[in-house]
Amino acid sequence: MSEHIHLTPLHRISVTEAAAWHQVVAASMAHDLPDVPPPGPGQIHAQLTKPTLDSHRLTWLAAGADGVPVGVAGLRLFASPGRDHLAELELHVDPAHRRQGAGSLLLSAAVAACRTESRRSLIAEASADSPGEAFAERWGFRQALALDHLILRFDQVDEAGILRLSKAEHPGYRLTGWTGTVPDDLADAFAAAKNAMNDMPVGDLDYGSVDWDADRVRAMAKVVADRGDTLLTIAAVHDDGTMAGYTEILLPQGTPPRVQQYDTAVVPAHRGHGLGLWLKAAMVHRLRAEYPHVLEIETDNAEDNVHMLAVNRELGFRSYRRTREFQLDLPTA
Ligand SMILES: CC(C)(COP(=O)(O)OP(=O)(O)OC[C@H]1O[C@@H](n2cnc3c(N)ncnc32)[C@H](O)[C@@H]1OP(=O)(O)O)[C@@H](O)C(=O)NCCC(=O)NCCS
Repeated sequence: MSEHIHLTPLHRISVTEAAAWHQVVAASMAHDLPDVPPPGPGQIHAQLTKPTLDSHRLTWLAAGADGVPVGVAGLRLFASPGRDHLAELELHVDPAHRRQGAGSLLLSAAVAACRTESRRSLIAEASADSPGEAFAERWGFRQALALDHLILRFDQVDEAGILRLSKAEHPGYRLTGWTGTVPDDLADAFAAAKNAMNDMPVGDLDYGSVDWDADRVRAMAKVVADRGDTLLTIAAVHDDGTMAGYTEILLPQGTPPRVQQYDTAVVPAHRGHGLGLWLKAAMVHRLRAEYPHVLEIETDNAEDNVHMLAVNRELGFRSYRRTREFQLDLPTA
């Protein structure tokens, strides 16, 4: 049946192509993830056309014989030294056109590109117990990481408890926060703290690591801003000037009620002092005070990341959905 499906690699993505992409992703998510708000057309356009940090993206559109878009694939090829073995796949087929080989055709184009680009690992995320999981297993991916997604709904939080946690004294530490790019006087300390994320549990994923420095943290903030999104950070700074930990929230463009947790990290030497809970409570308090349109935060944690899960549960996060990271190991020359 797949002979009726035609693949087109997309190069300079037009508004029409981005709209077709959005249509497929929205239909796919409405089918598999009815509780998850799909990205808006503007977000998809920005994701497809704006630069990413240290990576480039290849994209394909699958259309039926009548030219109607039925599936999309995006392949992110990382370029930084610790991650240039890795590619990440996003793949969606419109539910009305599934089980006709479109997904397999898109995957084979992505795998061929991985070979050309000498990638040894291809990773993709799928919901637990979903068609995506069955598809990944069919094509020889192995499950490398199990993620628990949690959600914090502000109408269900213990406001007084959050306030108390956010205002608690932590002798030797102070909180600071910023929007977008880190202030210059904290940039080196922030980059050092970001390197602490390299020990985040990633199961059996061949995820590599990234070396952060001040230029790279500024570049990351610029990528987010160019996409039209807003990055909020709160950090705990030790009296000696070290950044002991930080937490980041991404507010997508527009004013959608749901925001995404990005990193939360506490540097190993500063663990065990309740800084994670302090930082995250302060972030909830900041969101409540400064961004009244925000109603909920979604976060995901490796199933075995017991400390982060405990912090999140104490704040009021509740289980929401489960995803799996799959990895396909590719032969390299
Ligand atoms: C995963 C997805 C892209 C598959 O697209 P598709 O066009 O239906 O895939 P194909 O027709 O090429 O399927 C190839 C094989 O995968 C397996 N497969 C796909 N969907 C399946 C399902 N729902 N149940 C069981 N096996 C399935 C089958 O072995 C199938 O071969 P068959 O139809 O001859 O039995 C699609 O279901 C989707 O968009 N899901 C949501 C997004 C997602 O999870 N993406 C991550 C993918 S790793």
